[in-house]
Amino acid sequence: MVINQIKLVYFSPTGTTRKVLESIAKGIAVEDVEHIDLTLPSGTQRKIPPFSDEVVIIGAPVYGGRLPADAISRFKQQKASNTLAVVIVVYGNREFEDALLELKNLSVGLGFCPIAGGAFIGEHSFATEDVPIANGRPDSLDVQKAIEFGAEIKEKITALQSADAEMDLEIPGRFPYESKMHSMVVSPVTKEEICTVCGTCASVCPTEAISINSNVTTKVELCIRCCACIKACPTGARIWENSKMKEIAAWLNENCKTRKEPRIFGIDV
Ligand SMILES: Cc1cc2nc3c(=O)[nH]c(=O)nc-3n(C[C@H](O)[C@H](O)[C@H](O)COP(=O)(O)O)c2cc1C
Ligand code: SF4
Ligand code: SF4
Repeated sequence: MVINQIKLVYFSPTGTTRKVLESIAKGIAVEDVEHIDLTLPSGTQRKIPPFSDEVVIIGAPVYGGRLPADAISRFKQQKASNTLAVVIVVYGNREFEDALLELKNLSVGLGFCPIAGGAFIGEHSFATEDVPIANGRPDSLDVQKAIEFGAEIKEKITALQSADAEMDLEIPGRFPYESKMHSMVVSPVTKEEICTVCGTCASVCPTEAISINSNVTTKVELCIRCCACIKACPTGARIWENSKMKEIAAWLNENCKTRKEPRIFGIDV
């Protein structure tokens, strides 16, 4: 089969998933690459036609060993018809547990035909300069692996006769899924003394939890702890004050120091 177009479909609050998908697309080396960014509610408002004969790379971060609920609800609005897909999760150097299996199963339910998958590592959303957890990842080595993976995907697809050729992509994970994220009603806070009320935090929030008037207010119950607002704030005014969140970050910093490497599935090595 010939690949004419690639579509990148993703939920990526802090941008690491997006970077991995772009690198894989670079390795596939097709000119026509379209982004379908479902991170913000506005991304889901435009009408997206059902996928057909393009190759779709679907990506999401791992939250609590699973897919973020908002990624699931946004992906579920998409439809495909025997469309070749590559499923990707990006995790913060702890573990990806059931997330990639969940994404594969979800993609099949939407009409995709997943032919390869990967679990890559990204800087942990909870990481800061002072409390690093996989900081700077995906780095140049990860990007190189993603590019090589893209080239291998292209080879696999080129050798295929049709998209419905029998493919059984084996992905690690447990079904029924066993991982579960502990819900916490908490959000970052704003240090008003250094906030310039520029509005960047509100513009990157995937759940529209932040509003800007004369100052910044956050609807705590809408916060999914994605940390997009913290990483995007130009003055460092968005921070975690919550002691449990600080404890979690310190635990991850202490216990997830050993570098994990990307794992790929569906490609013979
Ligand atoms: C609420 C939440 C839960 C997370 N759970 C996990 C996890 O279970 N395992 C892990 O290794 N990383 C976990 N992470 C880290 C993200 O998977 C990781 O930082 C990812 O690169 C973020 O992707 P993005 O840049 O596309 O938003 C979690 C992040 C958040 C915000
Ligand atoms: S991005 Fe930072 S400086 Fe800008 S409004 Fe938000 S908290 Fe304030
Ligand atoms: S307020 Fe919560 S959901 Fe919104 S960007 Fe910040 S951490 Fe993410």
